[in-house]
Amino acid sequence: MIKNKSLVSINDFSKDEILRIIELAADFEANPDQPLLRGKVIASLFFEPSTRTRLSFETAINRLGARVIGFSDVNATSATKGETLKDTIIMVSNYADLIVMRHPLEGAARYASEQSRVPIVNAGDGANQHPSQTLLDMFSISKTQGHLDNLKIAMVGDLKYGRTVHSLLMAMSYFNPKFYFVAPDELKMPQEYKTFLDEKGIEYEEHTDMADVLPEADILYMTRVQKERFSDLLEYEKVKNTYVLRNSMLDATKPNLKVLHPLPRVNEISTDVDQNPKAYYFKQAENGVYTRMAIIASILGVK
Ligand code: CP
Repeated sequence: MIKNKSLVSINDFSKDEILRIIELAADFEANPDQPLLRGKVIASLFFEPSTRTRLSFETAINRLGARVIGFSDVNATSATKGETLKDTIIMVSNYADLIVMRHPLEGAARYASEQSRVPIVNAGDGANQHPSQTLLDMFSISKTQGHLDNLKIAMVGDLKYGRTVHSLLMAMSYFNPKFYFVAPDELKMPQEYKTFLDEKGIEYEEHTDMADVLPEADILYMTRVQKERFSDLLEYEKVKNTYVLRNSMLDATKPNLKVLHPLPRVNEISTDVDQNPKAYYFKQAENGVYTRMAIIASILGVK
């Protein structure tokens, strides 16, 4: 049962619950004006910058007929006076029916869910998890491939700090994928996620050259090297331009291939890719509205 459940890690939702969200997202895409949450108040607490996640959650809330409170700039809150996350969450959970929260610290969303009287939806906690992004990624994969089973998924770029790839890998593990991890040595997929796949008997290969995996992939999941996660900026400078996808590189790829990216991009996808029918990242971001409508409606028990 999704009703009243927090979504902190993608593991909080079962395979059936993930499939239910995807089904509901399709329903909301077909009919986005469903004001099922009139009278509800939802808090949107962004302790870290965001464009898509915050605005698509807030669009989803508005389309569902609820109202939004919150902040997008932590410097305008009493956290700057020393108020703890615990006190902030206790306060806000007295005001709102559900809290959407992004925070730079790994584990902050789980901690908040332990303090809150209302469900928490993790909108990204440091390098840990980004489960609503995963659900919209899966909706995008399902729409473009027609199914989720037995797909070959190449993940490219920052696989060390990339919370989107960590969450996606775990959720796709229900559907017998094969993964190709493409990263420089400094940004390889952490061992804990490879152990997770080993325990589930899921195949993966590690590469450093994107060209090696492009002909195999059904999904090419590009990621940004995240400057904000590096304590040593020289390390960032060393790896920031390791992978750049150019339009010509898509010539010898499968006809069903779609290029996904959680965005924002910096220069890892050249703008000449944008017009290629295999580019799907802007539509993927739009899918976030329908998926987040599905998440909120399910947790608040109106769907
Ligand atoms: N994909 C994503 O999380 O984008 P924002 O950081 O803009 O929310």
